[in-house]
Amino acid sequence: MDILIGLQWGDEGKGKFIDLISQEYDMIARFNGGANAGHSIYHNNQRVTLKILPSGIFYPHIKNIIGTGVVIEPSALKAEIDQLQSLISDADLRKRIIVSKKAHLVLPTYGYWDMYQEESALYRTIGTTKNGIAHTYSSKILRQNVRVEDMFSKDFNTDVFQIISRQYRELQYLGQKMPSLDELYGNFMRDCELLKQLHIADTEVLLNEALKNNKKVLAEGAQATMLDIDHGTYPYVTSSHTIAAAACVSLGVSPRLVDKIYGVTKAYCTRVGHGIFPTEIIGSLADDLRVRGAEFGSNTKRPRRIGWLDIPALKYAIMLNGVTHLILTKADILNGMAQIPVCTHYEINKQRSSLASLSSTTDEMKPIWKYLPGWDVPFAQISDATQLPNELTAFLSFIEQELDTPIKYLSTGPKREEMINLV
Ligand code: IMP
Repeated sequence: MDILIGLQWGDEGKGKFIDLISQEYDMIARFNGGANAGHSIYHNNQRVTLKILPSGIFYPHIKNIIGTGVVIEPSALKAEIDQLQSLISDADLRKRIIVSKKAHLVLPTYGYWDMYQEESALYRTIGTTKNGIAHTYSSKILRQNVRVEDMFSKDFNTDVFQIISRQYRELQYLGQKMPSLDELYGNFMRDCELLKQLHIADTEVLLNEALKNNKKVLAEGAQATMLDIDHGTYPYVTSSHTIAAAACVSLGVSPRLVDKIYGVTKAYCTRVGHGIFPTEIIGSLADDLRVRGAEFGSNTKRPRRIGWLDIPALKYAIMLNGVTHLILTKADILNGMAQIPVCTHYEINKQRSSLASLSSTTDEMKPIWKYLPGWDVPFAQISDATQLPNELTAFLSFIEQELDTPIKYLSTGPKREEMINLV
């Protein structure tokens, strides 16, 4: 099994890369998060954002597994499937989706908890996507949630009603505005009917059998390393494990079966939501790069914060994940800059450090910069590595040396074909 993860704060371009290499795989298995993700893919020249569905959904030969560690909001999944059906009118689309029996369901009150907590002075503001992801994972850990397989149990309706009516009363007491309880409950039950019609299975068994039969599986991560609940920039993180090891836990596949680990990074950094960001660019240059790079949340449309490439944080992410191949995206967005700043070290409490976890408790982090020569080329006309400008080749070599990891692909634009194989 190969694994693909993001190395920064998400939105590195994972969906596009998976779409490109999908042909090599028989199964693509999403292993974490839920509708908080937004993996953008160009299909027939149209931009499609996948939230819960794995990024192999457009290929007839691929089985798309929604793994046990994913949290599923039935209405979001239904909307996503309906949108794809209208785009590709493929009667077999649903047959290519396999959902883990053990994946947890996002109940309709959970998103309202996110909304309440983000607005209330009594709670930390995290800048979540308000999809109720944290409440689903916390209910799971409290052992108070329902899973996909529970939809077939005779107690399902009562269990769901009990959980959401209790939460509804609490939220009402706190003054949170919501539709009526009947509406929330009724819509949820209706949307579960579609979910029930999908192929629901012991996905860990399917995956292990497939691997035994030499089928190729790609585990697809959502969000990214620096948003990992333990190793990310807590508390400004998501609530799942986003690192490569989580693929094994979520999918029920032994670490002994892992082969390549692809790590995707932009040529600069972005993040949405709050939290530490020492290489952040403030002002008109950030505004300019945001527009050039279309750096607005694919899910929430929020403007992304922009920063320069952070080598110490990337070293940390590569260490955590054991990355074997790097994918570098969006070098084209830096086109036309005379010099490109890259943070190579941090000075932390007067000590120089070449690896940084960006723990939010680190008070004083002073980035140490190296300025690399920029490039200015018509990327649309470049189709192989020999046509790359010397400055960009030098930039790529510098990153490979610093990170001691080869860059396998360079993405030069949003479309599937705008990708150069370097190794
Ligand atoms: P949550 O995952 O919605 O709870 O949000 C927690 C943090 O993770 C917030 O800072 C979000 O902006 C961030 N986040 C969640 N999903 C993504 C994603 O797919 N891309 C980028 N940031 C994300």
